[in-house]
Amino acid sequence: MISFEDFSFCYMGSEEKALSNLSLQIEKGEFVGIIGNSGAGKSTFTYALSGIVPHHFQGDFYGMVKVNGLDTVNVAPEKLAEFVGEVFQDIDSQMVASVVEDEILFGLENFGFSKEEIKKRLEQSLEMLGISDLRYRQISSLSGGQKQKVAIASILALEPEIIVLDEPTGELDPESTVMIFEILKRLNKEFGKTVIIVEQKIMMLCEYAERLLVLEQGKLVYDGKSKDIVEHVELFEELGINVPRVVKLGLRLKEEGLYQGKIPTNVKEAEEMLKEVLAC
Ligand SMILES: Nc1ncnc2c1ncn2[C@@H]1O[C@H](COP(=O)(O)OP(=O)(O)OP(=O)(O)O)[C@@H](O)[C@H]1O
Ligand SMILES: [Mg+2]
Repeated sequence: MISFEDFSFCYMGSEEKALSNLSLQIEKGEFVGIIGNSGAGKSTFTYALSGIVPHHFQGDFYGMVKVNGLDTVNVAPEKLAEFVGEVFQDIDSQMVASVVEDEILFGLENFGFSKEEIKKRLEQSLEMLGISDLRYRQISSLSGGQKQKVAIASILALEPEIIVLDEPTGELDPESTVMIFEILKRLNKEFGKTVIIVEQKIMMLCEYAERLLVLEQGKLVYDGKSKDIVEHVELFEELGINVPRVVKLGLRLKEEGLYQGKIPTNVKEAEEMLKEVLAC
């Protein structure tokens, strides 16, 4: 379990807190989406989970962050890495090797797995991301999207209990974006992994994440079920976050008196709604 207890953080040399008075808990096996404007504190939130804050980025740390009962201030990030794997927003800063295979091997070798286990995990993670053909490629020759897949593969190969991803699909086409979310869904549903993902595509979050956290200028302004955003459309609009078009369509049809049912938050539900509307 993860808990933030009245947590605030102000980067050294910064006047304003990047995150203020955050209190929340995330249970094992949750699939949580994080959204918010630029500078809202999303990356800082992920750093607090993986111990990068305060161990790498120093500053004023208030309150407490606990991961699996461990106070992140008192535990080295290497220890936290045994259960938290983070795919960073800036993938170039994550890459340590020059060849794809070595990038994935690096983490696995650091964890001291056996040779057979390392080989198995390397091949499985490349296959899972559909990038087996990139195994011997120079990372510098890859596209942004390919690099993103390598970064994700290198974290998934470690099979962390808590998977944290900071805008992992920014460089990916829609098809690859869906592929990543499907992989995360499977890891969450079949293997009980906790998934925490920062993502700008709210439609994807509504489709895959059960819980949504919205950050705005360092504050948590929404913490609820992604399905319940239909009740908070005004708040999202005020924040400049576009709610999915299917939600708007549902609200419009309701307004026009053409539909009385549940407002859809994903494509499948929208399909049901339209069938019902067209049938009358
Ligand atoms: N290393 C740093 N040193 C000083 N200030 C920082 C540092 N990293 C982030 N900040 C500041 O902390 C605040 C939150 O930044 P953060 O990167 O967490 O936001 P974000 O929501 O991830 O933004 P984006 O959508 O652009 O990735 C911002 O005001 C930012 O300028
Ligand atoms: Mg960020």
